[in-house]
Amino acid sequence: MEKIKLSVSTNPAPLDKMFEYIAKLNDSEADFVHCDVMDGKFVENFTYSSSMVKQVKKESALPLDVHLMVQSPSKWTLRKFLKAKPYSLTIHYEVYENKQELIDCLQYIYKKGSKAGLAINPDTKISDVEAVLPYCQFIIVMTVVPGKSGQTIIPDCLNKIKQIRRFYKKLGITDVEVEVDGGVNGENIQKAIDLGYDVVVMGSYIYNQKNQLKAIKDIKSL
Ligand code: DX5
Ligand code: ZN
Repeated sequence: MEKIKLSVSTNPAPLDKMFEYIAKLNDSEADFVHCDVMDGKFVENFTYSSSMVKQVKKESALPLDVHLMVQSPSKWTLRKFLKAKPYSLTIHYEVYENKQELIDCLQYIYKKGSKAGLAINPDTKISDVEAVLPYCQFIIVMTVVPGKSGQTIIPDCLNKIKQIRRFYKKLGITDVEVEVDGGVNGENIQKAIDLGYDVVVMGSYIYNQKNQLKAIKDIKSL
């Protein structure tokens, strides 16, 4: 079994400490920086803009995993985030009424050189998103309602990976990475590993540790 990749969310860090935190992550064994972009519309909170993502890219030695919790982003909006050349750029299934527009956006992300990611809310069924899955290289299974860090995991959502893997297997697609996002901590991470997630997001669990670098190292050695 491949080692799980760790994507550390900067979301729990207050704005004035964020770049300090990113500098620290540069010396860590984390695999990605997870940028939670919130627009105050799709979710209540507001976090950073595309220019901040570009700034993070400048300061970070790690590839970026950008999670857009944004109401139906157009290609124009995506273009601004793609300028930071993220490893993956993920949009939400729930925000597009027109599913062809969602597919067009996923194809646009891929064409621009990032992995096209689809985030799936806890109450969205995998059977609903199947038509879109062939256009993705990256999936975020949300295990909390998007909007903030520090929530408790909804454990049932973790099982969605089984249906996702089954679906791709039928198509003969083996290289889509599946990430779990929300409420993952030192105790429940083993379940995510056992289920075969490729990437795990950790926000408050890592941020709240006294020794953050050691906590990352410990997670990576699981
Ligand atoms: C939730 C965000 C998550 C969150 C992770 O809306 O998408 O990425 O910041 O933080 P924790 O690990 O604290 O749930
Ligand atoms: Zn996220």
